[in-house]
Amino acid sequence: MKITSAEFVMSNSDVAKCPNNKLPEYAFIGRSNVGKSSLINMLMQRKSLAKTSGKPGKTQLINHFLINKNWYLVDLPGYGYARVSKSSKKTFQKFITQYFEKRQQLVLGFVLVDSRHEPQPIDLEFMEWLGESQIPFNIIFTKADKLKPNALKRNIENYTQKMLETWQEIPPYFITSSSNGDGRDQLLAYIEEINSQLNTAQ
Ligand code: GTP
Ligand code: MG
Repeated sequence: MKITSAEFVMSNSDVAKCPNNKLPEYAFIGRSNVGKSSLINMLMQRKSLAKTSGKPGKTQLINHFLINKNWYLVDLPGYGYARVSKSSKKTFQKFITQYFEKRQQLVLGFVLVDSRHEPQPIDLEFMEWLGESQIPFNIIFTKADKLKPNALKRNIENYTQKMLETWQEIPPYFITSSSNGDGRDQLLAYIEEINSQLNTAQ
């Protein structure tokens, strides 16, 4: 997909106030600092369309970006910051869960996980919650540039094995690096394909 335009539209914490039209949207979700906002900038080839930071907790609201005037990319706040994952409560910010439950235009959520780490309970729990709520999602492994190819391959195999303990099949997944652009073409082609299927279905 060629990107011809990418515009920030709005930020808010209330799903009811999100853009009120029928354009399809795709949302990035995952732990704080996993690289959601950086991936948006990488995909759009823009330095600071979405705000990023070395410190977790940068994105605080639901952010809509209008792409090519015909679909939205949504940047969400991270979960799991401030040792939330260690407490017994599953504290995914309420408006994040509301966004996924209520947003009719959402075509697919992409759950970002850091390719360097072992599967983390908070991510597995979030994916289980999406599954139980019948919200379709794919996985994006981020920061692939930080690992050697063999270690990356091993980690991804390990991740999919872990998921097969609870899932019958693994959802489609992508491997990306916002530093070197890996995964960009695949992810954009995939979104383009879904968008074109949605258009013909209408
Ligand atoms: P919150 O908004 O706090 O939830 O974080 P986020 O998931 O949006 O992460 P963000 O994009 O702000 O990136 C966090 C840090 O990771 C920044 O310092 C980025 O530069 C770095 N980072 C993100 N993606 C990559 C990547 O693919 N490779 C490398 N090396 N660093 C990355
Ligand atoms: Mg962010």
